[in-house]
Amino acid sequence: MRFDLRSHAAALESDIASGAIVPTVTPQEIRDYLGSRYDFTGPMPLDDVVADVEQMMRKWHVQITHPRYFGLFNPSVTLASIVADTLVAMYNPQLATWRTSPAANEIERHTLAWLTAKFGLPATTMANFTSGGAEANLSAVIVALTRAFPEYGEGGLRSLSAAPAIYLTREAHDSFSKIAHMTGIGRRALRTVATDRDLKMDLDDLARRVAEDRRNGLAPVMVVGTAGTTAAGAIDPLPDLARFCRAQSLWFHVDAAWGGAAIISPRLRGHLAGIDQADSITCDAHKWFSVPMGAGMFFCRHADAVGDAFRARTAYMPGTTDAGVDPYTTSVQWSRRFIGLKLFLALAQHGESRYVAMIEHQARMGDLLRESVERAGWRVVNNTPLPLVCFTRDGLVASTFLADLYERQIAWMSEVRFGDGVPVVRACVTSFRTTARDIEQVVREMSVLVVPRKRDHEVTV
Ligand SMILES: Cc1ncc(COP(=O)(O)O)c(C=O)c1O
Repeated sequence: MRFDLRSHAAALESDIASGAIVPTVTPQEIRDYLGSRYDFTGPMPLDDVVADVEQMMRKWHVQITHPRYFGLFNPSVTLASIVADTLVAMYNPQLATWRTSPAANEIERHTLAWLTAKFGLPATTMANFTSGGAEANLSAVIVALTRAFPEYGEGGLRSLSAAPAIYLTREAHDSFSKIAHMTGIGRRALRTVATDRDLKMDLDDLARRVAEDRRNGLAPVMVVGTAGTTAAGAIDPLPDLARFCRAQSLWFHVDAAWGGAAIISPRLRGHLAGIDQADSITCDAHKWFSVPMGAGMFFCRHADAVGDAFRARTAYMPGTTDAGVDPYTTSVQWSRRFIGLKLFLALAQHGESRYVAMIEHQARMGDLLRESVERAGWRVVNNTPLPLVCFTRDGLVASTFLADLYERQIAWMSEVRFGDGVPVVRACVTSFRTTARDIEQVVREMSVLVVPRKRDHEVTV
């Protein structure tokens, strides 16, 4: 099989940029196609199957790496990170223990130490790569519960004297709802704190709720501050939350799954002030660090609590060594992929300065998008320094508008709703390939869509 990764990736990049962004296909069409070709009864030439799968991926996917994909934080990916994922698959190292993959474990440790320092966390911070942000958030809740309730690990929730409570806003990521369910604290343990007009957590409401819950016999455990909310890119007031958590002996978790990458940018990092006070941080490499899924990261300043939460001992795993920790004893996963190589390789190739340039370029494209849609008569409804713009105009039916946008292959954007309001359009710059020309073209074509055919997109009142 002949497969030159570098030239293939380059050809694909230009092919995707000039092709369709959004597919039109039904589940039945794909099922029929697969059913007619793949009954697995006999062998097929690998080249043929690869070519066939690729044409399915080209035809029947939303093209995440298209410069006009303004999507849900999924990025375009660097060549180095593609090479890394291929290398990992070829060697298939086992990262559960240090002994089985010393080089891989140390490469991950080295990479995580770099970001630990950027966040301003102590060098003793325990960090690990995860499948994504949801697993990192899960890790945070498990460690926080373990630290708050020493009896949680052995006796479970039934041994606790009071029901735990976690504080977040309606804008926090919904993974916390599943996590509350999975950890057994229950979805009602999540206490929804009010937000201000910029969708940031309201500190007075937080204080009021914590006090009230304490009076009612609950056990407040954790506050989740989000640095770059999924829908609007809002950044909760991290320094205030840090102070409050310290005063109230609460665990301060910062979910910076997307926004965390801004910490390396001199222009943007000020918006994350206070993150250095966090007990734990979620930051995804597979979002703004532009590497393929899945690559999340979990950072926790309380190494001892992490060790307590995930301790494991078996006769069948290779014994521990003084040289390094065994990740299966300090994290959720057991067997795991060499997730960190894609970030390591991309950082090594580009260097921090080119990474900063990539991130700041996207922030500038976000600013341009914001200014351009406003100039074109749209109303921007969110407020963030990050490249995420939510907008609407009077009478717009977002779903109809987006269907037209997709049909004409103008761009991929999504629909989002704040509170009880009507849905608005959400566009996030997630590709380092997005240029000013892309933005100008999209805004121009969006205007053509709404102005002459106004009636199609307006709600009749
Ligand atoms: C703020 C935030 N936290 C957590 C997550 C979950 O991350 P993942 O999809 O990598 O599990 C997301 C996903 O978009 C997110 O936006």
